[in-house]
Amino acid sequence: MNHSASDVITSLNGATIQHGSYNRRIYLMDLGRADPGKLARKLICLAGEKGYSKIFAKVPDSQASPFLVSGFRLEAEIPFFYPGEGARFLGYYLESKRRHEPDSESLDELVTKLVPRKQNRPAKPLPEKIKIRRCTPEDAEAMAAIYRSVFPTYPFPIFDPQYLRQSMANQVDFFCVEQANRLLALSSMEKDGSAKNVEMTDFATPAKHRGKDFARHLLARMEREMLLKKYRLAYTIARAKSPAMNLTFARLGYVYAGRLANNTNISGKIESMNVWYKKIRGSGKTHG
Ligand SMILES: CC(C)(COP(=O)(O)OP(=O)(O)OC[C@H]1O[C@@H](n2cnc3c(N)ncnc32)[C@H](O)[C@@H]1OP(=O)(O)O)[C@@H](O)C(=O)NCCC(=O)NCCS
Repeated sequence: MNHSASDVITSLNGATIQHGSYNRRIYLMDLGRADPGKLARKLICLAGEKGYSKIFAKVPDSQASPFLVSGFRLEAEIPFFYPGEGARFLGYYLESKRRHEPDSESLDELVTKLVPRKQNRPAKPLPEKIKIRRCTPEDAEAMAAIYRSVFPTYPFPIFDPQYLRQSMANQVDFFCVEQANRLLALSSMEKDGSAKNVEMTDFATPAKHRGKDFARHLLARMEREMLLKKYRLAYTIARAKSPAMNLTFARLGYVYAGRLANNTNISGKIESMNVWYKKIRGSGKTHG
């Protein structure tokens, strides 16, 4: 178990990156004002110096070609991610082992077979006396305890109540399923105010509370919040091997956008992640 380590978020040439030995990668989170060609080369140098095995970059369509020329490959893409253009999710591998997915066939089948087979089940209504609400800073200790109980490792320091409070003070809204003042399940939406999109993330339901569609209700609730706040597009980067998480997104009408090979240190090891998205505004209503 490793509940304390995490990678640092910093700026490089005007871009925002996260990097470190925890995920053994650089994540280009926001290109910002950086020149894409120069940045691509700089990221490759930095990854080599630090001994990382992957660079994962999220960039606007119009800025992708200097990365592709430098050896990045397309792993997923979301249309309309930014106002007026899409986003490409690119991977650059410094070790062939990092690129290789021994379980690629079963990960493919999860999306092509299991999800379509099980997708069309209506939601179970929330049991009486159970409600969904926005989390507050006072919930941080209980939230961290749930995250610690569900995830052996996680790519961001959600096991730390202080980090959760800081996130709430910035751009992240957390939501919980609650019964009699006890938190039963959690999720969050991380808002990008300029691109007007949100990442639906940090879903956790302890095993004893699973099977009641809590994640699905949380996702529907967060979509309603998005609509109220005039955000346009929701997306997620979800564990590719989790039937429950991928089904949750598919059941709410999210579109599969591709897979990021061996991308994220989550639940004890580096796992591949699926990208899903949904255009919220102008695409019909949300449902639970
Ligand atoms: C993801 C999570 C929040 C979903 O919890 P939940 O809403 O209670 O979801 P459920 O456990 O009811 O699972 C949803 C569906 O997946 C199915 N499922 C789960 N594991 C499965 C498996 N191995 N094979 C096939 N189907 C599976 C369930 O049978 C269920 O199907 P049904 O609705 O048709 O009965 C919860 O599983 C969790 O906390 N997991 C660990 C943390 C995690 O991985 N979070 C996601 C990070 S990206």
